[in-house]
Amino acid sequence: MAYETIKVETRDRVAIVTLNRPDALNALNSTVMTELIDATEGFDRDAGIGAIVITGSEKAFAAGADIKEMQSLTFVDNYLGDFIGGWDAIARTRKPKIAAVSGYALGGGCELAMLCDFIIASDTAKFGQPEITLGVIPGMGGTQRLARAVGKAKAMDLCLTGRMMDAEEAERSGLVARVVPAAELLDVAIKAAQKIASLPLPAVMMAKETVDRAFESTLSEGLRFERRVFHSLFATEDQKEGMAAFAEKRKPVFKNR
Ligand code: HXC
Repeated sequence: MAYETIKVETRDRVAIVTLNRPDALNALNSTVMTELIDATEGFDRDAGIGAIVITGSEKAFAAGADIKEMQSLTFVDNYLGDFIGGWDAIARTRKPKIAAVSGYALGGGCELAMLCDFIIASDTAKFGQPEITLGVIPGMGGTQRLARAVGKAKAMDLCLTGRMMDAEEAERSGLVARVVPAAELLDVAIKAAQKIASLPLPAVMMAKETVDRAFESTLSEGLRFERRVFHSLFATEDQKEGMAAFAEKRKPVFKNR
């Protein structure tokens, strides 16, 4: 598929997906959604890819869902067309996704960043859920993922006032894993993705799946799931190789098996 609104490239075992609608600050319209689904699902299936970086421009990761595309929609249009439903497909991909965020990550842009596994932000990043100022609320997970990431007080503050928070506040409140200078953002994100992609893929995918469980289950269920996954990784060749290499004081050679 030839893309109009995103660019894709691969470096080693890392896929880089760049939102590319500069005239609209990367606003997320239906074409962006269709193309992002196609690209991320394709990389998810590709055995040569171990991690995915999703990024935007220096000025904007994404300034939200496309307001001009949304403004005339009706409830029935939304319901019958399952408006926004497609974003779940991107959230569901099983390989780790890192959001590399510079500039505005607002509304659907903040929600896209949050449906990645973690966020690396530049010191210029600004996060917010301004939907309330348009007469709506976050619809791509903002009320749910933001509340889980930063807690009720700050999620309420952001969703009810529509204010933006800067990178420093976002890191302090747990939305962001790291803040780096803007010029280094993509390099740092790609290096993190390459590190992940160099590690045993079954363990990486199971670690991601298990952390995700923490947000969907009780502590005792989550601990039980974790223990079972931990046990099962002893069936992989990479566990034998990783531990043998440590004992023999050599570098492991993983086969993703
Ligand atoms: C459509 C958008 C857009 C958006 C910016 N643009 N954001 N178009 N949808 N979300 C367009 C502008 O219309 C303008 O186009 C161009 O991008 C540049 O934007 P400016 O506003 O001129 O830039 P600036 O003055 O630098 O202000 C930047 C900004 C502002 C603060 C980010 O653009 C802004 O407030 N944008 C909207 C943010 C927002 O409310 N996001 C939430 C959307 S609702 P022209 O053609 O005039 O040059 C949402 C719901 C999610 O996300 C849940 C459902 C999916």
